[in-house]
Amino acid sequence: MSNCEWRGVSISQIIGSDTPWGAPEFPLVQPAHNHSVLYHIPASGAQLDRPPKPQVGKDKWDQDHVRMPFSSHSLYPVENSAGETKLKRRWDMIQNALNRPIRNSKELANAILSYNTKFKNKWRFASLHELFEEHLEAEEAQYFFDVTLPDIVKLALSLPKLIQSPIPLLKQNKNHSVSLSQQQVSSLLANAFFCTFPRRNTTKRDSEYSSYPHINFNVLYECSPSDSIMEKLKCICYYFRRVCTKVPAGALTVSRRGRARGAAQWARSAAPLATLRAHVAAAGTIEDAHGLIQVDFANKFLGGGVLGYGCVQEEIRFMICPELLITMLFTEVLRPNEALMIIGCEQYSKYTGYGHSFQWAGEHADRTPYDCSGRRRCAVLAIDAAPSRGLAHEYRLEAVTRELNKAWVGFSFYTGDDPGPHFPGVATGNWGCGAFGGSVPLKVLIQMMALTEAGRPMAYYTFGDVKLRDDIIHVYELLVKHNVTVGQLYELINKFCKGDIEKTNIFTYLEQTLENKVSSSKPQPMDGGETEDTIPL
Ligand code: AR6
Repeated sequence: MSNCEWRGVSISQIIGSDTPWGAPEFPLVQPAHNHSVLYHIPASGAQLDRPPKPQVGKDKWDQDHVRMPFSSHSLYPVENSAGETKLKRRWDMIQNALNRPIRNSKELANAILSYNTKFKNKWRFASLHELFEEHLEAEEAQYFFDVTLPDIVKLALSLPKLIQSPIPLLKQNKNHSVSLSQQQVSSLLANAFFCTFPRRNTTKRDSEYSSYPHINFNVLYECSPSDSIMEKLKCICYYFRRVCTKVPAGALTVSRRGRARGAAQWARSAAPLATLRAHVAAAGTIEDAHGLIQVDFANKFLGGGVLGYGCVQEEIRFMICPELLITMLFTEVLRPNEALMIIGCEQYSKYTGYGHSFQWAGEHADRTPYDCSGRRRCAVLAIDAAPSRGLAHEYRLEAVTRELNKAWVGFSFYTGDDPGPHFPGVATGNWGCGAFGGSVPLKVLIQMMALTEAGRPMAYYTFGDVKLRDDIIHVYELLVKHNVTVGQLYELINKFCKGDIEKTNIFTYLEQTLENKVSSSKPQPMDGGETEDTIPL
């Protein structure tokens, strides 16, 4: 075996043929009954010299759309000096508060509380004060309040001009897409920065948005200050500095979809793993795998702990590409058979470290080209693994099938039902095996099966683990050698699950099982039509 950093086929064979994006492109932005486009698409196509204009429509204050902070329906109880409570337009209160000078974090906190009075005695803004009073140099803090903050205020208050049509909620069981301009996203996020989204501050079980992630940034400001929280705040402040200095002119599409298969269908799958192209590398990270669909090791509540203490793959990705935070505004908690794809996000920051050692490492100039709809050619695929409840729980057919469906619904995004190969391939890694504690070999097999079924090639990044890289390619070659199909592997996993799972690793089990067959009888290609009978044990 060669000494190169990677194993399997070269990365160019995973990306696709001629273009760096592979061909064909993902579906272009086109308004439809299942695609809401919040900006006007010029007849001549995307123009990147200026941001697109907003699509004109009517505000919708209902359960199917994001309740906008500027809506005339958004009212807030205010007590007057006589002790009477009157309803006031919340947007007026927001404008009044933000149009006053804000010179330090105390004044910023007071401004936010002035239209969130219910939380006056609850919100302490500990991390915000720590950042500006202790962590940053005095000049840096001064610059933020003198220059950047007034720009963020302008951006936030321009929301009614920038968003003129209702934003649908991406609800469970609905395949729907939303496209927004990067400028619209920045204005929405500026509102999240000032915690203006109505009905989004309570976490009570029966509250309207209890099945949606947090979006107002107060949850981040409330965290006890720690190094990684400071670094997250720097990423956010830096993002605003960038978008306020130069308005980005591109667009983003967020798509939700669901589909599932039963165990019997998986067991019947005749797709041979030999059709999977695999590239396995110990070096490199998913976000640097340009031209591929990049997996987000997600939480079912998109973003996971990004506005809290979480600081692993998903949270870091959302911090270096803050436009991804917009998914948290309108994506209902994912069901086991659903995935979310985000096309077009830009990377603004570099980082170093991971977890507690995570650090903002300055500007990132994203050179990713745009597609014909003015979106960065970057596709992030959010799939949430199930948090492991121990090996015995994970190695049950039901649990395996859940993960297979989750991976497959994501990997087969935009493949239609045509047989593969579909480009570009997918950049993935130890999905579900960090914070969620899953078993790496099982997740490797599940992802290989889902990719084989979807017809997309795989680029697997082992996050520095050289042995894992070699083990993956070894098991892959074994499966290819014995012409194992997805259905047969499913049955083999099933048999392994029924045995003593603590005794041996599933990779070793596969090797013993498949190779014993070869040594004891003449090697035979396995026939995908059969399952139980053709699998040696
Ligand atoms: N590129 C490639 N591999 C990576 C990268 C990267 N950039 N970052 C981490 N890994 P984890 P999970 C590897 O724990 O277990 C979040 O809070 C590394 O080996 O992020 O699916 C979400 O919101 C790491 O141990 O994913 C969810 O709540 C492994 O991938 C939860 O974590 C898993 O990364 C998801 O946890």
